[in-house]
Amino acid sequence: MKTRITVLCENTVGRVIGSGEHGFSAFIETDHDNSLFDTGNGHAIVSNSLALNKDLRTARRVFLSHGHGDHTGGLPEVLKLTGKVDVHAHPSIFLDRIAVRKVEGGEVRRFAGLVYKKTYLEFLGANFVLNQEFSEVQKGLFLTGEVPRCTSFEKNDPSLFVEIDGKLVQDTLMDDQSLVLDTGKGLILLLGCAHSGMINIVHHVVNKTGKQKFKAILGGTHLDFLTPEQLEESIKALKQMEIEKIGVSHCTGMKAASRLHQEFGNRFVYGCVGTVFDF
Ligand SMILES: [Fe+2]
Ligand SMILES: [Fe+2]
Repeated sequence: MKTRITVLCENTVGRVIGSGEHGFSAFIETDHDNSLFDTGNGHAIVSNSLALNKDLRTARRVFLSHGHGDHTGGLPEVLKLTGKVDVHAHPSIFLDRIAVRKVEGGEVRRFAGLVYKKTYLEFLGANFVLNQEFSEVQKGLFLTGEVPRCTSFEKNDPSLFVEIDGKLVQDTLMDDQSLVLDTGKGLILLLGCAHSGMINIVHHVVNKTGKQKFKAILGGTHLDFLTPEQLEESIKALKQMEIEKIGVSHCTGMKAASRLHQEFGNRFVYGCVGTVFDF
């Protein structure tokens, strides 16, 4: 299966084309049809898709990696173009998410969840297809569902909370799921924010598919938010795996991206807006 993945939304822009924003979205073209993975935070998805010549109206389905606003904020703009379309996600994407940042003498709270009502999104054309388990959406195209937390070194981001009955509790982001494409010559793993832990996700995908060879691991890794020890453990684990290319974006951050570049050399690519991955 021939596959092309184009980064539509990301924090940085590599060419003089499109806009950067804190968020992630990628357009996926295969021999069968087109899909959209995440929608960025809403400011750049339409203009970037036009600049990069990707017609959002041709997306046969939309995948939401998790409920955070920087991945779901562009959904209304996308739906206005696609009309009725399947939107694949975990049922917990609708939870109220709060990010808390410690500042001197206190804290700053920010609403970090999906800011649109489900009924509004349905009105615009979203047909939510909700899954919690690993599932095959189309031949060779899989969603990981909930990812078991197995590694000792991958921890929840302590700044992320969910509000339940007016109380903030630590957010375990069980809705975080990734997309897997089986090219026949290796797997492509597309991460949203990898809140489940990048290594946990890889183990889960190997378990579920029975395949170990990765053509590429792409997307947000959340490595920027971790301790240096956690980053080094993740790199150590990645080096033991069969991975042809690492193309990170978004919440990977420059520090972690630089470390990955150091370790993986020309197998490493930074996936900024406009980066095209051909398989
Ligand atoms: Fe994110
Ligand atoms: Fe996130």
